[in-house]
Amino acid sequence: MGNPNRSKAEKGLMRWIDDRFPATQMWEEHLSKYYAPKNFNFWYFFGSLALLVLVNQIVTGIWLTMSYNPSAEGAFASIEYIMRDVEYGWLLRYLHSTGASAFFVVVYLHMFRGLMYGSYRNPRELIWIFGMAIYLLLMAEAFMGYLLPWGQMSYWGAQVIISLFGAIPWIGEDLQQWIRGDYLISGITLNRFFSLHVIALPIVLLGLVVLHILALHEVGSNNPDGVEIKKNKDEKGIPVDGIPFHPYYSVKDIVGVVVFLFVFLLVVFFFPEGGGYFLEKPNFEPANPLKTPEHIAPVWYFTPFYAMLRAVTYPLFGVDAKFWGVVVMGAAIAILFVLPWLDKSPVKSIRYKGMISKVMLLVFAVSFVILGVLGALPSTPGRTVVAQITTTLYFVFFLAMPWYSKIDKTKPVPERVTG
Ligand code: HEM
Repeated sequence: MGNPNRSKAEKGLMRWIDDRFPATQMWEEHLSKYYAPKNFNFWYFFGSLALLVLVNQIVTGIWLTMSYNPSAEGAFASIEYIMRDVEYGWLLRYLHSTGASAFFVVVYLHMFRGLMYGSYRNPRELIWIFGMAIYLLLMAEAFMGYLLPWGQMSYWGAQVIISLFGAIPWIGEDLQQWIRGDYLISGITLNRFFSLHVIALPIVLLGLVVLHILALHEVGSNNPDGVEIKKNKDEKGIPVDGIPFHPYYSVKDIVGVVVFLFVFLLVVFFFPEGGGYFLEKPNFEPANPLKTPEHIAPVWYFTPFYAMLRAVTYPLFGVDAKFWGVVVMGAAIAILFVLPWLDKSPVKSIRYKGMISKVMLLVFAVSFVILGVLGALPSTPGRTVVAQITTTLYFVFFLAMPWYSKIDKTKPVPERVTG
């Protein structure tokens, strides 16, 4: 592929393969001749880091599965066995459990980049939609994985989430039972969650990541200026503001990988429980259906949505407040899917948007973080009011976007990328 110093035998082998499989063609299309904008910044590290964390989860997951016992009787003890007796089992487990949190850190930053630079806009709507499907699936994957250690928080966290389905009028009760496969969360539930967590969801996740990247490579990457580099090509048809992904960005991404691994491994080796946020304290006790933990909170990456759920305290149309909380939570995620059609600004990047858009994005991000903090704390009347305000602001960011993105003053976008 591309290398002029190749020996005759190597060239022959490559030709033999290329006659049967488009290896060189794929290498060029996706790496050595994929022209990416030359002005990628810090925020563009998180796509490749998401790939890295995905691989880490899959590899450590495979090795954990070798020693894990998916039964109500044996699950908790098998985790202890992995931690104490399996060679490097503690490392495998911490890489996986801390890896789950790292996945969400990386994906949240990756999504925020998209929000800042308008990467969801025409022609990248499908990249965004595949991304959102990945995000949904990632949440399901994390939720099911958390039941597997069969600790107190595994059990009661799952109990809270599954009971949300019970709030749906008419079908709630049956739906809950269908999900659990039993009248209460039991070994049957554990078995099906195990199967979905290790096989079904990862397969779909991998497929979606392939689609995500294929869609990206079809239209080309956006950049911090939101300028379409394909509009400016030289006589050979190469974007003048583009550089080949390989070797330029493959090398640059290695720098991101090294820095990320340094921070990640620091956490894995020295703070694997993340102060109770990555592995919650009650999960060091085996599941006990007869003893509810004092304070049930989901893992940090779910807490913004959990706070929205609890922010809804009024019944409506004779239906329980819990149901409307579930609706609000679902809507908070669903609205992200239609984001590409809510933004009517003539420019893509926040760099050239006006004050209103900048303030709205900031308010949105701060509200999301506040919701995350509130969702991790026990609720009080004061916190509920703050959660109601921040939930409203979360939705205002999206629902008012068609209006403020249109009237907001924009700056002129340069012809070529800057910096
Ligand atoms: C397993 C999770 C994911 C992986 C492995 C992944 C991977 C990638 C990679 C490698 C890129 C190209 C490099 C870059 O632009 O940073 C990318 C771009 C992108 N991703 Fe993801 N992604 C994931 C999740 C998501 C999610 C959850 C969203 C949003 C809902 C999303 C939205 C985007 C967008 C809009 C782009 C294009 C960015 C641009 O060109 O400016 N991705 N993704």
